[in-house]
Amino acid sequence: MTDIKRIGICGVGRALPKAVLTNQHLERLVDTSDEWIQQRTGIQTRRIIGAGESIQSLAVSAARAAIEHSGVNPQLIRHLRVGVNTFLGFPSLGTLIQRELELEELSAVDISAGCSGFIFALEDVCYHIKLDLLERGDEAYGLIVGGDGLSLVADWKDRGTCVLFGDGFGAAVIGPVKSGGILATYTHTQGRYADLLYLDPFMKAPLKDPVTMEMEYFTQTNYPFLRMDGRRLFPVAVRTMMSDIKTVIDKYNRTAERPLTLDDIDYVIPHQANLRIVHAIQEGLKMRPDQVYTDGVINYGNTSAGTIPIAYVDEWGKRPGAIEIDVAFGAGFTSGAVLRQVSED
Ligand code: ACO
Repeated sequence: MTDIKRIGICGVGRALPKAVLTNQHLERLVDTSDEWIQQRTGIQTRRIIGAGESIQSLAVSAARAAIEHSGVNPQLIRHLRVGVNTFLGFPSLGTLIQRELELEELSAVDISAGCSGFIFALEDVCYHIKLDLLERGDEAYGLIVGGDGLSLVADWKDRGTCVLFGDGFGAAVIGPVKSGGILATYTHTQGRYADLLYLDPFMKAPLKDPVTMEMEYFTQTNYPFLRMDGRRLFPVAVRTMMSDIKTVIDKYNRTAERPLTLDDIDYVIPHQANLRIVHAIQEGLKMRPDQVYTDGVINYGNTSAGTIPIAYVDEWGKRPGAIEIDVAFGAGFTSGAVLRQVSED
């Protein structure tokens, strides 16, 4: 029987749009400068969805790449969760990925958990796979996709937000592994901070009179833009991610034969929102710069629920046996962390 304790990452993939938007491009669009953007955010370039690309096409490509990389039989994938926030419509992105990839024995759901969506999705799929293994005893795999097309909801006249975000998706296949694996997961929400980052309401008013069916909401509908209070969000993000890292280690230690401390953590992949936030985490953890992932924010900006699985592709195979943490925060306010040991297979 498969060891249900060892569920790990079996393969990873990503899909980024072709178009590169530089800080110099943004200088022509809003009152900003390359110097300001690099100093305050660390971002140099980001990818933006262009002609022939869409949220759906990127998500499908990332999912396909992860399945191919894993070598797993796609028909053994039983659970698909997609961390996405701006796929405004239905059916869900998950079911569209299912259709495109012709996955049959599958339950697919989208998860709206801000930039932490990938962590929420991973936690959910982990539970389901463990249940499957317990109940059926056979091999079961999960597919987790995360990302977004925030350029589609960016207010390109607002310099405070439009410089921060990029588009892209990442994906991972998880399932039974022979070594390493996901040691613990933790997710958390703090609704009191919901006003720090949100999408304008899509429909502003219900029917004026439900009896006469008098309508006014269509005339009031605006294209929704992303709104953010970056200055207030910054300290909440740092505090919460530090706390979630400690909580996920504590959670693991409750049942661990060999408890872990912060000193045992070899590498951290934090949500790539802002290089200063990433550096604050690194300093808080007293880690060396090379122990914390930063390439994503520099090259791709903030791709929301995509930042962690996009990083997986860069980091794949680099540290067999290492103890690592992924940690994220996002609109909601949502946050979460994953404690993993990299497989040695
Ligand atoms: N170019 C030039 N100047 C700018 C720009 C810009 N793009 N944006 C803002 N400014 C100006 C402001 O108007 C302000 O001017 P003022 O002093 O004359 O009023 C000045 O720069 C300083 O503004 P602050 O907002 O205080 O700048 P701050 O150092 O806080 O940096 C930033 C702003 C980058 C948004 C930062 O607060 C941040 O990164 N916060 C966290 C954001 C975040 O993580 N978002 C993602 C959350 S979840 C998710 O990932 C979806």
